[in-house]
Amino acid sequence: MEVLELQNKTHDETRQGEAFAPFTNEVNSFKKHFYIESYGCAMNFSDSEIVASILNEQGFGATTNVENADLIFLNTCSIREKAEQTVRKRLTEFRKIKESKPQMLVGVLGCMAERLKAKLLEEEKLVDIVVGPDAYRSLPNLIEEAEGGQKAVNVLLSREETYADISPIRLNSNGVSAFVSITRGCNNMCSFCVVPFTRGRERSRDANSIVAEAKDLFEKGYREVTLLGQNVDSYHFIDEAKDEVVTFANLLEKVALISPLLRVRFSTSHPKDITDEVLYTMAKYHNICKYIHLPLQSGNTRVLQLMNRTYTREWYLAKVDRIKEIMPECGISADIIAGFCSETEEEHQDTLSAMEYSKYDYSYMFFYSERPGTLAERRYKDDIPEEVKKRRLAEIVALQNRLSYESNLQDIGKTFEVLIEGESKKSGNDWKGRNSRNKVIVFAKENYNLKPGDYVHVKVNECTQGTLLGEIAAVDSPLSIVNSKL
Ligand code: SAH
Ligand code: SF4
Ligand code: F3S
Repeated sequence: MEVLELQNKTHDETRQGEAFAPFTNEVNSFKKHFYIESYGCAMNFSDSEIVASILNEQGFGATTNVENADLIFLNTCSIREKAEQTVRKRLTEFRKIKESKPQMLVGVLGCMAERLKAKLLEEEKLVDIVVGPDAYRSLPNLIEEAEGGQKAVNVLLSREETYADISPIRLNSNGVSAFVSITRGCNNMCSFCVVPFTRGRERSRDANSIVAEAKDLFEKGYREVTLLGQNVDSYHFIDEAKDEVVTFANLLEKVALISPLLRVRFSTSHPKDITDEVLYTMAKYHNICKYIHLPLQSGNTRVLQLMNRTYTREWYLAKVDRIKEIMPECGISADIIAGFCSETEEEHQDTLSAMEYSKYDYSYMFFYSERPGTLAERRYKDDIPEEVKKRRLAEIVALQNRLSYESNLQDIGKTFEVLIEGESKKSGNDWKGRNSRNKVIVFAKENYNLKPGDYVHVKVNECTQGTLLGEIAAVDSPLSIVNSKL
């Protein structure tokens, strides 16, 4: 996923991290302009696209230049302390701009807004607007209030809001892959996690609006959608008009049926909820990518219990077996937390051995960061010294580096169907794309007339730990080039 990749700059602060993505689509016909930066998970990046749509309706155009903005928004993340520190630092940088442009408004959106509420206005004097993830529809009113000199806050969480009817404005898009949000909130109570507090109760978006959005994307030339939710497998929609219950497996199938040329991905799966039905649906459709992000968190059952993950080490590893049984070629990645409360050295070793067993292609690895208000903060002592947490994390990262490399080595000599996403960063002569298993492949353009959004078969010749390097398979080979022209 493009955004995850953006966030994935370092190994110790990955995924729900600190990257930001300003707009790329400059609109000049508007009287007022807004600038937005997104931090955190793909859900936040997707929400910024909804915010952009709401603001556009109100006559605000996007700008990539913060100096030109009448409104600055930070869509924030609270998942770890460092994520919040990054936002605070960024706010300090905006202070100077605001001094020279006092009429400019600064708004904080997203999870940090929800967690800190009006307190954020006291702590960060330059902030004018604070809006939680379920209150974006009220932005036009809040902006009006703030323009009148009032500080404006709306952090109400909702049990219904899914923004189903809002057509997102794609930001930072490569025109090939897009996020489509399918659920909001989370009903799990993992003891370390702030998300249930910042995002509220879980709700599933109308399946018809999801399929319509994916179809519209396909018609606009997109070739890959990623269905997003904190726990996609618990998607459950009752379509009263059609007298139908739509499960996640049903939804996957509906989206896959839009076109065989539209790739379908999803994130995140919870090991307790991913069903055989989902796995069989994945296996049935070529265009549902054979890749599952299956967070482990810890490989030790006692720690998993403290984390309130509701599965054991054995349950998790049996899921991995089941995935490989139904789809031997399926890639798996994980999220892992090092140094959770009271974790012993042996328990840490269990995490390493579970990684070794699962042979992850990739992992997002973190050391535990205590979050105010969570179950773990209230119940357990954050008693693993920072240097121990960091050393355990370094061991986890080193192991993952080896596993990723080993997984890539196994692909040498194989030919994959690749969706071209754009030019390689390193060379204008090379394309970059991904295979179904979510591995990045770089290959020479040669003299073929290909473009982003086209499918091509690529033979892998070499690899690094992070990338496969290959060449377009000969046109006269059985796997001839498949162009996505309809
Ligand atoms: N809904 C997803 C994960 C959302 S948060 C799931 O349940 O799998 C993304 C990842 O951040 C988590 O999987 C976890 O590994 C990490 N994370 C969450 N809270 C954390 C904390 N307090 N400290 C360190 N890492 C944390
Ligand atoms: Fe957080 Fe757990 Fe919900 Fe994931 S499933 S968002 S880790 S509470
Ligand atoms: Fe961060 Fe909120 Fe996502 S806390 S990880 S932006 S749901």
